[in-house]
Amino acid sequence: MHKIVLLLLVLSWIFSKCTYDNEEDYYVCDTVDVNYTTVVRPLIEDNGCISCHNSTFSNGDIILDSYDNLVQHSDAVLGAIQHLPGFEPMPQGNPMMDECAINKIKAWKNDGFPEN
Ligand code: HEC
Repeated sequence: MHKIVLLLLVLSWIFSKCTYDNEEDYYVCDTVDVNYTTVVRPLIEDNGCISCHNSTFSNGDIILDSYDNLVQHSDAVLGAIQHLPGFEPMPQGNPMMDECAINKIKAWKNDGFPEN
């Protein structure tokens, strides 16, 4: 009886280890060479940011419809999309951006905001 329990434990450990390894293989978030034009702008647009933060609405006096505007507000944007304390969580009314998208925007900042 004990042997069966032990065997089950070992098997479940091996199994969980396999799925974990597989997940790592599958989930690759490419944060290399992130630029505004092809990566960041589409993310900001697809997540609805620009539909609320443009020159017509400028919610919270924040306009995110151009490279210069986004760079200017990048600290607040990073705080808001990560739902950090002290920031309004964004995108407002929608689920949090996925982790990979957030990591890309972080990498963009760390790389000095490449435009193209
Ligand atoms: C449905 C409209 C809407 C959407 C979509 C939206 N925002 Fe906002 N955002 C607002 C409003 C309204 C405020 C002002 C909130 C306040 O001051 O109470 C705001 C505030 C902010 C702020 C200031 C936060 C702070 O605490 O300083 C930032 C930065 C911001 N939004 C970025 C974003 C980003 C990035 C996205 C997309 C991921 C986004 N927003 C999507 C409406 C929106």
